[in-house]
Amino acid sequence: MSPDPFTAARAAADVITARLGTHRAVLVLGSGWADVVPQLGDERDRLAMTDVPGFPAPKVVGHSGMLHSVDANGVPVLVAAGRAHLYERHPVETVVHGVRAAVLAGCSTVMLTNAAGSLNPANGPGTPVLISDQLNLMGTSPMLGDDPPEGYPPRFTDVTDLYSPRLRAVARGEFPEINEGVYAGMLGGAFETPAEIRMLATLGADLVGMSTVLESIAARHLGAEVFGLSLVTNLAAGLQGKPLDHHEVLDTGRASVGRLAEILRVVIAEA
Ligand code: HPA
Repeated sequence: MSPDPFTAARAAADVITARLGTHRAVLVLGSGWADVVPQLGDERDRLAMTDVPGFPAPKVVGHSGMLHSVDANGVPVLVAAGRAHLYERHPVETVVHGVRAAVLAGCSTVMLTNAAGSLNPANGPGTPVLISDQLNLMGTSPMLGDDPPEGYPPRFTDVTDLYSPRLRAVARGEFPEINEGVYAGMLGGAFETPAEIRMLATLGADLVGMSTVLESIAARHLGAEVFGLSLVTNLAAGLQGKPLDHHEVLDTGRASVGRLAEILRVVIAEA
């Protein structure tokens, strides 16, 4: 019988610690963000995710599949340049495995980044937005299944302040112009229809994407402080007057790397 997801994450955590040491924070990079790594600090070491038990090989264009150990001005940060998505037909345990492993390996802060469509025309392509809250519309949860085993927190985690008010205040303190928004996590695999975007607007979403909402719950469950940063790569379907394109998503990410790194450095310093 394969181990439960928490025991599996613990085994991955042991490999990460043995190979890369311990880190204060883990940063999960969104599509097209890999160039951010050298702008965060000095890379001390790196490890292919496929060398860590339970990590699948990343397949999405724009993800490098490395775990980087970075010294960000004295703060050791583990950077995951790639993530598993539900739309790749990974099980939910696999989607959150990396975040669980990182927290069990000692990362007390989890920083989740993503490329997102914007429902608010004021936040156009290239705009960073702090995630203030989320709508998990993926139809699943990392808290499904048997009760977490002995030694792990129980299932019904409070997620009222899922995205740390403290770390959002840190970012806004340095960059007062940054907006905050509610991120709607969709199963994805295709972009949304304009009718779905109107539905999401009614539900209170400001941002839409295909990641993050499961990882945030898994991280909070294990007691980590969670920070979320979206980069708007396009206005959501029906709002931008042209079709959506994954390559545009990646190009916008690459073009915005400097700005994103500035924000991440400020938050990392307070992690
Ligand atoms: N929808 C869903 N995911 C996305 C989008 C979008 O418009 N842009 C980047 N990721």
